[in-house]
Amino acid sequence: MSVNVIVGTQWGDEGKGKITDLLAKKVDLVVRYQGGNNAGHTVVINKKTFKLHLIPSGIFYPHIICVIGNGVVIDPEVFLQEVATLKDNGINVSPKNLKISKTAHVILSKHKERDCNNEEAKDSLKIGTTKRGIGPSYEDKINRSGLRAEQYAKELEPYLVDSVLYLDKAIKDNKNILLEGAQGTMLDIDHGTYPFVTSSNPTAGGSCTGSGIGPTKIDKVIGIAKAYCTRVGEGPFPTELNDSIGIYLREKGAEYGTTTGRNRRCGWFDIPVLKHAVRVNGLTELVITKLDVLDDLDEIQICTGYNYKGNILKDYPSDINVLIECIPVLKSFPGWNSDITEISSYSDLPKETQNYLNFIEQETGVPIRIVSVGADRTQTVWK
Ligand code: GDP
Ligand code: IMO
Ligand code: MG
Repeated sequence: MSVNVIVGTQWGDEGKGKITDLLAKKVDLVVRYQGGNNAGHTVVINKKTFKLHLIPSGIFYPHIICVIGNGVVIDPEVFLQEVATLKDNGINVSPKNLKISKTAHVILSKHKERDCNNEEAKDSLKIGTTKRGIGPSYEDKINRSGLRAEQYAKELEPYLVDSVLYLDKAIKDNKNILLEGAQGTMLDIDHGTYPFVTSSNPTAGGSCTGSGIGPTKIDKVIGIAKAYCTRVGEGPFPTELNDSIGIYLREKGAEYGTTTGRNRRCGWFDIPVLKHAVRVNGLTELVITKLDVLDDLDEIQICTGYNYKGNILKDYPSDINVLIECIPVLKSFPGWNSDITEISSYSDLPKETQNYLNFIEQETGVPIRIVSVGADRTQTVWK
């Protein structure tokens, strides 16, 4: 029996969908624990692309039960639409393999309206939300005036379960469970770049509160990190590249939002951000994704610290006023200038690629277990 958590270590879109699908092969249940349809998780199987917003990325395996946990906020229309789209694509989805926690809160039209109005009104503090009603729904939950799934629509009823009892029984039956985070550490309401964050806890602690599985049951916390950084929406982003390399990363990495289609801002890999993620999530291992996107670069940089008014900070500062004045200290690495998308064994990766990965491991003290070299399930290197 094992309970493992997948968390994003940056600003979301690290490839959590791909890695959840990959690791799901060997588990019995996949559980989403926070966020809602602000998430967009992509899974590519045999060149066919699926984009999931609410349904856990384990849905493509017939043996898996997917659970939308109590910590998620559910837009019922979006949920039913996503079920219908998957069925149209030949994926088996029914209340037999998909469950919703009775105590998850719902997103109502008033929440979506409020989200859109907020965005238009407060220009100076504009977050650039996905306008899906996520923040306002969580606002009502915290204010104790929200609506839970069990009190809502008839259409959701066949999917509803007491998810805490359901998952507890699964653990007692020695099932393997994967908890799938949405968003990422730097978008966490407590540990991210507040106020430019989402309204939930994507970090590992959120996987306990958002599923009802106690912390002593968790075995591993797997951090997903992209080989460079991206961010959608507003807020500080120390290593952002507003130059031709930033454009290269966006084009080569197809960095456009899975949910809103917006351009993703791109920048170099950021060690202080990853070390922050290691701490607040208690990461036990790392997965580095989209390494192939760096294939054509002659030189690659990694941010090793921040220069703040002449002082070098090695750790990510919690004070956003400090963060916005930080200038990244960059270390240069030679590129590998070759196509790694067909490589399947770690020792076959170019030595420059291995150097890049070794540096990340050394700086964080967390072992890299998987490297992703393409969007497809098969484009994966196990270390
Ligand atoms: P998530 O929100 O963390 O699940 O990530 P998204 O699905 O929003 O964004 C990741 C994007 O990168 C998707 O289009 C994936 O298909 C794609 N992707 C995932 N891993 C890799 C990889 O190793 N290489 C490349 N080139 N694309 C990848
Ligand atoms: P996945 O799970 C990237 C960002 C929005 C905005 C901020 C708040 O695919 O990684 P919200 O609608 O949540 O109130 O918006 O958070 N954001 C994401 N960015 N990936 C996501 O999800 C995101 N979900 C929210 O762009 O800056
Ligand atoms: Mg995404």
